[in-house]
Amino acid sequence: STKELKEGLLTVNPPEEDENTVDSDVKGDDSTVCITIVGASGDLAKKKIFPALFALYYEDCLPEHFTIFGYARSKMTDAELRDMVSRTLTCRIDKRENCGEKMDQFLKRCFYHSGNYDSEENFTQLDGKLKEHEILAGRISNRLFYLSIPPNIFVDAVKCASRSASSANGWTRVIFEKPFGRDSDSSAALTRSLKQYLEEDQIFRIDHYLGKELVENLSVLRFSNLIFEPLWSRKYIRNVQLIFSEDFGTEGRGGYFDHYGIIRDIMQNHLLQILALFAMETPVSLDAEDIRNEKVKVLRSMRPIHVDDVVVGQYKGHTRGGQSYPGYTDDKTVPEDSLTPTFAAAALFIDNARWDGVPFLMKAGKALHDRRAEIRVQFRHVPGNLYNRNSGTDADRATNELVIRVQPDEAIYLKINNKVPGLGMRLDRSNLNLLYKARYAKEIPDAYERLVLDAIEGERRLFIRSDELDAAWSLFTPVLKEIEEKKVIPEYYPYGSRGPVGAHYLAARHNVKWG
Ligand code: NDP
Ligand code: BG6
Repeated sequence: STKELKEGLLTVNPPEEDENTVDSDVKGDDSTVCITIVGASGDLAKKKIFPALFALYYEDCLPEHFTIFGYARSKMTDAELRDMVSRTLTCRIDKRENCGEKMDQFLKRCFYHSGNYDSEENFTQLDGKLKEHEILAGRISNRLFYLSIPPNIFVDAVKCASRSASSANGWTRVIFEKPFGRDSDSSAALTRSLKQYLEEDQIFRIDHYLGKELVENLSVLRFSNLIFEPLWSRKYIRNVQLIFSEDFGTEGRGGYFDHYGIIRDIMQNHLLQILALFAMETPVSLDAEDIRNEKVKVLRSMRPIHVDDVVVGQYKGHTRGGQSYPGYTDDKTVPEDSLTPTFAAAALFIDNARWDGVPFLMKAGKALHDRRAEIRVQFRHVPGNLYNRNSGTDADRATNELVIRVQPDEAIYLKINNKVPGLGMRLDRSNLNLLYKARYAKEIPDAYERLVLDAIEGERRLFIRSDELDAAWSLFTPVLKEIEEKKVIPEYYPYGSRGPVGAHYLAARHNVKWG
């Protein structure tokens, strides 16, 4: 962030500037930022966006002259919005000194305007209110709109906001939440519609996994440690696993989920983004465009996914220890005969010189036995390993594994073979372990904090460019169509289990054992 740059903590390139935008130092005095959360009455706004803004305010990362507006159809006064926000403002800052006082100051900068998403008149009224604050500040006015609404109203809201509430003398940026379409065609149509009203550099497509600390750290790990990058290829890596698992179902979001399924909800975006960062070539610089160019290249080098390389599953109801857990189709908003996958595993390949033949296995599921997101890198066997010659007991001995645990309990650990201390010669597998909470006293910011701050600062590195999105959809659209057209029956798995056994057969076909 600019704050860290100023403090000399980071030495990355400063964010680029928008064309036609008056230069404004975020923490300087010459500009004001109005942040409008469109859909402020909703779940995401309460759960993530307001808490992230408050944490940024508490940490003194927001520009000096900022104003926050909530916008939605629900009728609310400013006082009611503040009340709603204060009741849900739970975040990592909660236990900090002066939290209550800071919250009061923060809430004084929050306002509300009720309006329809397709009404230019209502957005013109909002514009009037924004101007009142901007004029008071007497500075260049920058405007950020955060669209936290269902995707079917994105275009209406963008049309009205851009026509009636754009900044007159500063920048206007719009943050979008996924889903960005549900296949190549619908995604391209959405992009075309948005580009009627916005330039690509005004569009900030969020993939919140890119804002997670360990995902941000992936490039640091690779490119600033001599020991990893030389090993980062088919020569030394046997397979890479990208694992997402949640120990709860789609409770409350079944209606949304049934239209998308786990492949679109998690694989096509979160896991594929991690894969791209993991596998890309070294970018020319840390500049957003250089990084995104490399991500697009690797995505475009991927082999089409074969339907036989995908396993789908769906959770069913289950009773354990006297407690019963609902099946996916028990949700009233989900059709009883739904075939939508809540679990999927897939084998993907990158047809380039670095990764030829290395399976990248993805696994994502809801209502499984644990909650975690991990990258696991399994290395090849040590050639002619001295210590493996006579044992014959553990085929995997001497195979190193690097695990990047994105959540929970962020950690990076490397499994190595080690001699068990003592007079004999016995080996075991131990971890060289970097557990974040043991190493760093500071709490880890929520992904939304980083992303909102980057959008304010015009830093696009962690947002999805339209050609990246196209490449991601090109990879998944054909296999999604095939699964849907063939009405592939998902393998049913009990709520709270480890998921369908098919995932193990799939991995075994590629000589992989899930970590
Ligand atoms: P909500 O369903 O809570 O919708 C947000 C607001 O939009 C509602 O409060 C409502 O406000 C308005 N709204 C809802 N449905 C309609 C409709 N059919 N027509 C017009 N307005 C409507 O969404 P979330 O807050 O959960 O999510 C917002 C966005 O973020 C969505 O695109 C979602 O896919 C995405 N997202 C959400 C996540 C989450 O954890 N919630 C995670 C990742 C992405 P009002 O009635 O007051 O106008
Ligand atoms: C969202 C998905 O993008 O990510 C949800 O739509 C999922 O289904 C969520 O639960 C997981 O995010 P996190 O940050 O809690 O791992």
